[in-house]
Formats: sequence, C-alpha cells, structure tokens
Amino acid sequence: MLTTKPRGTNDIMPADISKWYYLENVLRRVAKQYGYSELRTPVFEHTELFQRGVGETTDIVEKEMYTFTDRGNRSLTLRPEGTAPTVRSFIENKLYADPQPTKLFYLGPMFRYDRPQAGRYRQFHQFGVEAIGSCDPGLDAEVIAMAMDIYSRLGLKDLTVQLNSVGCPQCRPVHREELQKFLADKKDRLCPTCQGRFDKNPLRILDCKSKECQNLTAGAPAIAELLCDDCRKHLTKVQDYLQAFGIPFHLDPNLVRGLDYYTQTAFEIAARGIGAQSSVGGGGRYDGLIEQCGGPAIPGIGYALGLERILLTMEQQGITIPTEAKAQVFIAALGEKAQLQGAVLAQKLRQKGLVAERDYLDKSLKAQLKAADRLRVQYTVIIGEDELKNKQALVRDMNDSAQIGVLLDKLESYLAEKIGRGSNE
Ligand code: HAM
Repeated sequence: MLTTKPRGTNDIMPADISKWYYLENVLRRVAKQYGYSELRTPVFEHTELFQRGVGETTDIVEKEMYTFTDRGNRSLTLRPEGTAPTVRSFIENKLYADPQPTKLFYLGPMFRYDRPQAGRYRQFHQFGVEAIGSCDPGLDAEVIAMAMDIYSRLGLKDLTVQLNSVGCPQCRPVHREELQKFLADKKDRLCPTCQGRFDKNPLRILDCKSKECQNLTAGAPAIAELLCDDCRKHLTKVQDYLQAFGIPFHLDPNLVRGLDYYTQTAFEIAARGIGAQSSVGGGGRYDGLIEQCGGPAIPGIGYALGLERILLTMEQQGITIPTEAKAQVFIAALGEKAQLQGAVLAQKLRQKGLVAERDYLDKSLKAQLKAADRLRVQYTVIIGEDELKNKQALVRDMNDSAQIGVLLDKLESYLAEKIGRGSNE
C-alpha cells in the first residue's frame, strides 16, 4: 500500500511532462484565440452543487462521486466535472452583471469513481470551456468548431461528431411520457438503478451502461423525434452553422449525455478505433442550469475534453510530440577549485535565462561528458586545473565536438550569444 498509488490514478512522470506542457499550451492558446479566460475553482465543492447541477439520477451522482464529510460535518465532493463549479462561481462572483456573454475555460483534475481501464481513470484531467449568456445557435456550432480546431492542431485524425438535441422543458415531458409507456412492461427487467429512474427520470435509462438495459431500450422513442418547434429550429440552425464551418457531423437521435443539465444541443466527439473509451470530448447547452443553481435565468453552452484520453489517442495514432532538450549548457568541472568556478558560472547562466546543468557527484570527465550527452545540451564547458591557471575554459560544441578556449570572464556573454539569450524563458 505504502508504495502503490490509489487505483485509477496516475503519476505524470518527468519523462512525460513535456507532452502535457505541449498539450496544455495548445489548449490555452486556442482558448485565448476564441476569447475564453481561465477560471480556477476549488477541487472540492458542496455535494449539493453536483446533486442539483449534474442531477440526482445520473451515474456520476449515484455511483461515481468522491464524497466525504469534513471536520465541520459538511458534505463535500471532489469535483467530478467542471460545469457546475463554473456556474456556481459565475453566480457567486456575480459575473452576470458584466457585459455578456462570459467565456470561461478551466484545466485541472476531476474525480470519478469509475471502473478504471485504458483512457478511464478515477483522477483525470479536463480542459473545458463554458460560454454563458447567449442562446445563439451559432455559438453552439462555434464551440464544436473550436473543439475540432484543437484536435486538428494536435494532429488527431478520424474523428466523428455526433450531434443531437435533448429538447427543453416544453418537449421533455412529452418524451418522458412516451418513454414510460414504451418501458412500462419492461420495467421489472431493468437494473435496480434504472427501476429507480423509471419514475424520477426515465431519460437516464437510455444512458445506462448495463447490457440488459441497453437491450431493453433498443427502439425506444428518441427525444429528437418529439422536439418542439423552437428546439427543432435551434437544431437546424446549429447544423447550418456547422455546414458553413465545414465541420462534418452525424445526427444521432439516441445520443443522451451522462449529465442532466443539458437542453437542446448535445454532442460528443469520438476517435475511431481507439477502443472502448473513444469519447475524446463532449458537451452541450444548459439553458436552465444557472437558474437551477440559484442564479438568474441565463443560458449557457460548453464542452470538455479529457487530457489523458487525448494523449492516449495521439499515441495510438502515432503522433509524436517534439521533446525539448533538458538543458542547454553542461558544466563539466574537475577538481575542487574548478567546481566552485563551475557552480558560479551555472548560476550566472541561469540568471541570464539559459538552462544550465552541472555535475554534483565528482564524476570523471568522461562520465560528465556522457551526462551532458544524455541531456542533449548544445554546449559543454570544461573547466579543469589547467584551464583555471590560464583563466579560461574549453567550450565544446556537442554537435561537432569542436572545442575552443574562451576566457572565463567572457564565458557568460559567449554562451548567451551562441545560444540566444533567454531562448528557454
Ligand atoms: P463528460 O462527457 O462527462 O462531460 O466528460 C468530458 C470528457 O472528459 C470525456 O469526453 C472524456 O474525454 C473525459 N473523461 C470523462 N470521464 C473520464 C474518466 N473517468 N477518465 C478519463 N477521461 C474522462 C463533462 O464533464 C461536461 N462537464 C462537459 C461540458 C462542459 N458540458 C458542458 N460544458
């Protein structure tokens, strides 16, 4: 136990961190280009927020939350997703008083007690965007287009966009009734969770992971067939925009997302051929959520992707991420005096914005050059007793092994000029 991480969690190792930096940089850059500002909310919230926001009868709330009571006897939950916390913060900080829409993005860990497998973890990372304050269908399409823009910049291929409308409080009750009629004589064969959902929220039965429930719901009336005029028009406009953006999509009348807050537009983006956890992102419109969480009646639309799943898909599709050299200069010093000189030089180079590394284990010159090679540095500075006597060091260009002597007091400016000052800042 002491040396084993909890099931479903990952250590992101130094060898992999450059991939994360790369991905996070792309996400932040794209978010900025589309006008989203970063919001950082706590990793835990009052449990009630998710019960109300995500929905009492969803798998997330019923089975997957990490909920605990703190020392003050409050029920808190590690956030399973980012939309409800964003909405809570939007209301609490009165962002609705600003000119709308408010476009926010977040990036951070989420927690779900899910059955772990490749691409599905109990602690995972999401990047999400939420555009609050407009019900323009063009915005729905833009959120989908933004997601596709992200994937294309990352080099992902073979993606499909599944689009649906899950209706609104006008047309939902009609669907609910039809669904109950359809399932009435099958109720006893549903899983115990879905039997409980039958009266409370039959739509959720369509999203059940149990094979038996999936068989029983085959051929059930789809919400998309029972949409009211407004919802139908909205869906048509979203499609018009997507076509104008040149984004291929499939209408999937059976698409039901795993969260209760959706109204009208719901979508999921999947990568073909990466196995069971193929959903690389999903989202939709949530026009009632803000009011339901105690705020004004303001609409919203958003989307989130899982970073682990994106990295896995990139790997499976053979997309390589360029890795940076760990250091630019290595200082190989031999003997006590030279080591002191080398340590001071490393400090000065770092302060000039270069990435400098040195030996701390009193290794031989050969071993130090090997270490420099491993770090893939551009230059190695060699300082030994002889060099100190001549007040100079040898600078070795690691590309062609050419060495030249440089006076100690010229080393900093020499290297800064060669490497390009601050190029790693
Ligand atoms: P979601 O579909 O539950 O939506 O999650 C979005 C994405 O997070 C998924 O497509 C997947 O890539 C990733 N993901 C979900 N669960 C896991 C897991 N256990 N392990 C690894 N990755 C996972 C939401 O969370 C909504 N809040 C999205 C949204 C934002 N809707 C409107 N605004």
